Amino acid sequence: MAAAGVRERFGSRAGFLLAAAGSAVGLGNMWRFPYLASENGGAAFVLVYVVLTLLLGIPLLLAEFAIGRRGQSGPIGSLRKLGGRGWGALGYLFVLVGGVILAYYSVIAGWTVRYGLEALLTGFAPSSAEHFAEVSSGADAVAFHVAFMAATVLIVVGGVKGGIERASLVMMPMLFVMLVGLAVWAATLDGAGAGYAVYLQPKFAEIMHPDVWRAAASQAFFSLSLGMGGMLTFASYLSRDQNLPESATVVAFTDFSVAFVAGLLVFPVIYSFALQDAVSASTIGALFIAVPSAFAAMGAVGRVVGLVFFLVLALGAITSTISLLEVVTASAMDEYGLSRRRAALLAGTAITLVGVVPALDTDVLGLMDKVVGELLLLAGGLVLAVFAGWRLRGPVREELLAGASPFWRRQVPWILLVLRFVVPAIVAVVLFFSLRGTLAAVAEFAAG
Ligand code: TRP
Repeated sequence: MAAAGVRERFGSRAGFLLAAAGSAVGLGNMWRFPYLASENGGAAFVLVYVVLTLLLGIPLLLAEFAIGRRGQSGPIGSLRKLGGRGWGALGYLFVLVGGVILAYYSVIAGWTVRYGLEALLTGFAPSSAEHFAEVSSGADAVAFHVAFMAATVLIVVGGVKGGIERASLVMMPMLFVMLVGLAVWAATLDGAGAGYAVYLQPKFAEIMHPDVWRAAASQAFFSLSLGMGGMLTFASYLSRDQNLPESATVVAFTDFSVAFVAGLLVFPVIYSFALQDAVSASTIGALFIAVPSAFAAMGAVGRVVGLVFFLVLALGAITSTISLLEVVTASAMDEYGLSRRRAALLAGTAITLVGVVPALDTDVLGLMDKVVGELLLLAGGLVLAVFAGWRLRGPVREELLAGASPFWRRQVPWILLVLRFVVPAIVAVVLFFSLRGTLAAVAEFAAG
């Protein structure tokens, strides 16, 4: 059965906003952001991150929104329709990047479910570093990855309105409430002050360091789901009465708030149990080693709080995995006329198989995150900024104005200026630095 006919639509404004915020809010906010902030100058990093969210994040969100709503297809179809065959070919690359991100992201998401179940059934293991080494790769990791992918496929098969929108409307408010509850609880811990200090102590000397900007820029891309057509695909299910500039601002603000509050939770927990060494040992460590060992030390309270904590992570993760799978699914439907069910099953199966590799080897997982999640997203963002700002300038302007309120219509001219000049310039510089860093990581991986 072909998926011909009228394109699916979000059922409500809130549905689209929560689905887009659901895509943005995920493991990136709760796992990557707090860690990066503490490593890169604390409040100085937070400040750079806010600046880059405004300067790169919102204009690029708008580029994706405008292209997707104009093109009324996934990245391949939209770029081809609006830009010609050559641009359409780049769309294939976006879909591939989305698939690869999903493959390793789902492995990490599987860990969150596993830790949640441990809280519920057995309690956290006291020696968390060893425990993490045991469960983060191997048969168990594969099993949880497969289960997480199956849940993702199930939601995507339900469609834009009946699956993605419905899941986001339920899950995102739950996530917000539980996260704020956890942060309030964390404020009562003994080490809270020390934790906040490390998280937010402004080391302004570091603000000029290129690494800080590179880390903040790539984090903004990953966290806002930019650079591979995820937001583009969601916007293809919009009608022209949606206020795009306002939507982009709401999504970016929500995403930042969740990341910021996650830091207010993670750091007090770590510092009240003096687990800072576990954090600096590895990126992943902050969340899956240090935090569970703190929960283990808290006894029964730790089990309850830990269960809520990993539930929040799993909710954030699944609203992100559905957006990643939707890009591949929508493209398979657009390009090959497959039914939604068939497209989601095929894409989901292929991605699940690819994910077995990072599920068996955390070094491969880390490398995939560096090369695909960082470098290729930046490259994709550069392409999209040039496409929207230069090749498609007129239509993008029209899309941004259509549905916008008078206030937001007045902001469109300077948003476009930023998109055409500032975004490509900054992203090109960051990409250059990232390329060097990534090549070094690849060489290190190859060497041992
Ligand atoms: N933004 C999500 C997070 O922060 C991850 C994610 C979802 C993503 N869709 C994406 C990242 C598309 C890059 C591209 O966890």
